[in-house]
Amino acid sequence: MTVTSVPAHVPADRIVDFDIFNPPGVEQDYFAAWQGLARPNGPGIVWTTANGGHWIATRGEIVRALWADTARLSSEVLAVTPGLGEVMRFIPLQQDPPEHHAYRMAVMKGFASRHIVALEPRVRDVARDLIVGLAPRGQCEFMEEFAEILPLHIFLTLIDVPLTDRPRLRALGAQLTRPDGSMSVEQLRDAADAYLAPYIAERMAHPGDDLFSRILAEPVNGQPWSVDDARRMCRNLLFGGLDTVVAAVGMAALHLARHPDDQAALRADPACIPDAADELMRRYPTVSVSRNLIEDVAVDGVTLKRGDIIYLPSILHNLDPASFDAPDAVRFDRKLNPTRHTTMGVGAHRCVGAGLARMEMIVFLEEWLSAMPAFRLDPDRPVRMKGGNVGACTQLPLRWD
Ligand code: HEM
Repeated sequence: MTVTSVPAHVPADRIVDFDIFNPPGVEQDYFAAWQGLARPNGPGIVWTTANGGHWIATRGEIVRALWADTARLSSEVLAVTPGLGEVMRFIPLQQDPPEHHAYRMAVMKGFASRHIVALEPRVRDVARDLIVGLAPRGQCEFMEEFAEILPLHIFLTLIDVPLTDRPRLRALGAQLTRPDGSMSVEQLRDAADAYLAPYIAERMAHPGDDLFSRILAEPVNGQPWSVDDARRMCRNLLFGGLDTVVAAVGMAALHLARHPDDQAALRADPACIPDAADELMRRYPTVSVSRNLIEDVAVDGVTLKRGDIIYLPSILHNLDPASFDAPDAVRFDRKLNPTRHTTMGVGAHRCVGAGLARMEMIVFLEEWLSAMPAFRLDPDRPVRMKGGNVGACTQLPLRWD
């Protein structure tokens, strides 16, 4: 963490020292750690001196409004960590309108709902296989033995590569989810590119019906994809679709382990599971984004200057009482419109994998709850969490009888 001097346009009463990668108490509770920053009647935007210095929006309406403001805020920066955006150069995540639109359209076609529906039986098979292996044991480390495996498998299936690639991709996924310091960001990008390169070349030369082929077959602005753009896009999908689903499934399992009544309600009425999936995703948002200002913006009594970076935590939108009634409560009958919460983003960059992620969550809930007896947290081993652009459980020991 680097602490820098505070720019002159930041009022003294907005200055805090809050490290988004390590908010106070995050190991015990990622959500409480963030909620501490949003004080009732406190400022809607603060400036943290941590990580080189940047703004953080702390009020729901401000998080949402700035997230949607692609005219004045750019996605180019990717993260508050200097240099990360220049290394990854994700397409479409780091593009701004108007360039972003045509690339996003091509990617969206690859995720058309008929493809997601067709994938569902495969997700179900993977979930069942994992559960069959775990059920007789009476306990598991849920993150490592379920949550981290399911999206990997699905990603391999989506891009139609042999499941024997799993260990290689898993090692990459682990570096992304739990970096152990052995790889720089450049090395991680290069390892991802090295893994993807032969498949990209093959799909560009001989398109099949897999996700990459479908997207790469769509011309962008009337032109075929360049190899460099194809790499940037495939890299985005790889990094966008693993850690995020791992985190979301983990949070759903954590909630249910702590709330046996909710487990019982969903077992008694599985038809509620799609609504429950939406509500769990609202209540436990794990992704936050960074934007860089492309012009000055006056908001909440301060001026964000061109070039400043602002961090937009979905958690402080979804858990703001002004956004949702009793936001900390999980109510399966909220009948949410999933675009009302910011778990999957807002506006032009809203997650292209949202339908896939929702399907994975629903299938997980259906399969786990129908095959597993009532489960609970292991009283002998603590739950551990981490902060960052994707907050998640790193340790989630479960038990059942
Ligand atoms: C629960 C799981 C997921 C969550 C919480 C999530 C969250 C998000 C969020 C918040 C954004 C907006 C980023 C921004 O505004 O800067 C986003 C965009 C994106 N997500 Fe996801 N995501 C999930 C799953 C997936 C999956 C499964 C994939 C693909 C396999 C995926 C691929 C992408 C891509 C490519 C974008 C960029 C879209 C654009 O810039 O137009 N995500 N996601």
